[in-house]
Amino acid sequence: MDLLRFQDELDAETRASLRQSVSRIDYPLMKRLFESTKSFDASKNASERKVSPVTSVRKAPELFELGQNLIRGGEAAAVTMAGGQGTRLGHKGPKGTYDIGLPSHRSLFELQCDSLRAAGGGTIIPWYIMTGEENHAATVAFFEKHGYFGYGKENIRFFRQGTLPLLNTDGEPFLSDKGTLCTGPDGNGGVFRAAAEQGVYEDMETRGVKYVFICGVDNAAVRMADPVLLGLAKRSGSEIVSKSVAKRSPEEKAGVFCLMDGKPGVIEYSELPDELRYLRGDDGELVYNDANIIAHVFPLDVLKRISETGLPYHTAFKKMPYVDETGAVVVPEKENAYKYETFVFDAFAYCRDMTVMRVDRKEFSPVKNRTGQDSPETARAALEAQGIR
Ligand code: UD1
Repeated sequence: MDLLRFQDELDAETRASLRQSVSRIDYPLMKRLFESTKSFDASKNASERKVSPVTSVRKAPELFELGQNLIRGGEAAAVTMAGGQGTRLGHKGPKGTYDIGLPSHRSLFELQCDSLRAAGGGTIIPWYIMTGEENHAATVAFFEKHGYFGYGKENIRFFRQGTLPLLNTDGEPFLSDKGTLCTGPDGNGGVFRAAAEQGVYEDMETRGVKYVFICGVDNAAVRMADPVLLGLAKRSGSEIVSKSVAKRSPEEKAGVFCLMDGKPGVIEYSELPDELRYLRGDDGELVYNDANIIAHVFPLDVLKRISETGLPYHTAFKKMPYVDETGAVVVPEKENAYKYETFVFDAFAYCRDMTVMRVDRKEFSPVKNRTGQDSPETARAALEAQGIR
């Protein structure tokens, strides 16, 4: 269907914005992605490669001081990937603005800010926040409203991740209403290129940054720019260091660290074949037991290198409202649209080596579901148990 078919019915602003989105569609890329969809098999990533386990290290006492010195020298920065909305939590607005219900009513963003301030111990660690098209304005407005939590507007910088059109089952982009192209964020792997294109690495360089901590927005217990992890990055010299926790169960929805064809990687929970998911060693422990909690540190020069590399796309099949030939919005009952995303950890394959440090479960309390496991309630309980109110 012609994407501009209803343009005469739109006001000037909507028409201009639709025309712009349509003109930006990278048709050769979308064609290539759709072609790959036809043969897509979620477990292909793992099953077509030789997968082997990694051995994770534990915290060592000297790492803290090493990391602290690095922070004092201004060599550390933090990036939060906050491209998503809080829809699954029933929260209207960016996920980071969600209040998990502590007595102090701190949002996920404010909890991260507190943690960053603590890691700095008097030194300000510059903070870069990746937003998405749909939540950028609301995120910036939230920080304005809260006076940047006293962290200093000049120390917090926002950058936007890219978007990609979704495709229908004929492989075509489509409208979600008469004036809107159906698009979605390009996945958290978009962080590398978005940061490069929007001057983030330049800004880091100007400030003397050498190591970059990267996390997601939903772990309420995250230790931002943890000196221990930064110290490990320095001591190991690894191109990627990352934290893990032991899996709660084989079914936990977390990616697992591994080597694929000898290269560092993570297999996402949705792509982990059962023979690996349930595989246990002689000691009874799961062989793939180091769960990714999205707490990574890359040297800045590695980030810059990765931003020049194209990451592979993963496909999800979703239910998305669409406009039919008559202009009516149809809410489908079955999945009807392909969404393409890159994953941040796919960049690990471009790193020479990886060091994984397994930490205590108390460092991981994601807020993903409205109730039950990994919900505001479990996060609140976990933080209160650590004396954070
Ligand atoms: C993610 C990890 C998974 C890990 C789990 C732990 C990825 C691809 N997967 O899964 O391996 O075990 O967290 O909680 O990293 N985000 C963006 N832009 C996007 C998509 C996501 O900024 O386009 C951010 C989200 O705000 C979130 C983070 O990336 O903070 C993770 O994304 P999400 O889709 O929630 O991943 P999970 O399925 O939870």
